[in-house]
Amino acid sequence: MMGHTDRHFRFMANLLAKDIKLYTPMIHADTIVFSENQLLETENINQKDVGIQIAGNNTEIMAKAASIISNYNYDEININIGCPSERVQNCEVGAALMSKPSIVADCIKVMSKEVDIPLSIKTRIGIDDQDDYEFLFRFIDKTANAGCNHFIIHARKALLQGVSPKDNRRIPPIDYERVYRLKKDFAELFIEINGEINSIEEIETHFKFVDGAMIGRHAFKNSSFLQDIQEHFYSDKKLLSKYEIINAMLIYAKEQTDQGISIHLITRHMNQLLKGSNGARKWRNILGSNQHKSIDSYDLIQEIKDFIRDRKEELV
Ligand SMILES: Cc1cc2nc3c(=O)[nH]c(=O)nc-3n(C[C@H](O)[C@H](O)[C@H](O)COP(=O)(O)O)c2cc1C
Repeated sequence: MMGHTDRHFRFMANLLAKDIKLYTPMIHADTIVFSENQLLETENINQKDVGIQIAGNNTEIMAKAASIISNYNYDEININIGCPSERVQNCEVGAALMSKPSIVADCIKVMSKEVDIPLSIKTRIGIDDQDDYEFLFRFIDKTANAGCNHFIIHARKALLQGVSPKDNRRIPPIDYERVYRLKKDFAELFIEINGEINSIEEIETHFKFVDGAMIGRHAFKNSSFLQDIQEHFYSDKKLLSKYEIINAMLIYAKEQTDQGISIHLITRHMNQLLKGSNGARKWRNILGSNQHKSIDSYDLIQEIKDFIRDRKEELV
């Protein structure tokens, strides 16, 4: 999720639910090919099991990007065919490519030659008035024949004109049945569902029909949901306490601050860790105090340490 699930968030997500699969936000293939490769190294440093999501439509550049990615520690390349933003459309990538399955198929073919890690596609159920099941079927059929066997489907269509990306995640109605039908028709493919999934019960229901579920906003806004997922689906693994998670984040924050990273980029994700708990307001105030540089980063780390030390018993 662009602007949200950066490497600092993903570091925290790994502490909350170490067995879930995480993805980078979308990165344009041009950025990978034409900018400094260091981006790829820093993007998943301290991480494991990270899929990198890229956007592009030029076979040569997509192949080159895949080849560069294969030098780093990513375990999947996901191609974004779902983003409806005007900026992305102007580059003729994202959701608009749903109507050009041959281009996507060609990209899959050339990229598969460059990497051993799996390729996947994240897409919608349709775009604009191209929203019948046959349109979706043709897209999946063509790209699956090119070698993609993992699809993540945001279960609503994208509107490419006059609707903001935000409204594009709200206005087109959700249609889970269409994704279930896809899985029936393509039993051999790994089909994951996405869109408005907000509870363990909902995930369990989807698992009766599809192979996986991707969670966006609810996981980002509620760290306890990530812990619920870890506990429910990987119950053999012991959860870390809030105290342990915050402590680990402080060690990480110190390392990052030493390397010149602004501590705010890390603490902004920690706000939600005490959502609904005693002292949540004080916690938010402490974390917010660094936002306008009214406190030195190392003093902030010490203040957070003092805060959690006094509440060790509560932070279970
Ligand atoms: C702020 C924001 C940024 C997003 N960035 C991306 C992105 O980079 N790549 C992507 O595939 N989806 C992106 N999405 C879409 C989500 O991955 C997801 O498909 C969508 O929000 C629906 O799922 P949800 O209801 O679980 O959030 C973004 C969503 C939000 C809210």
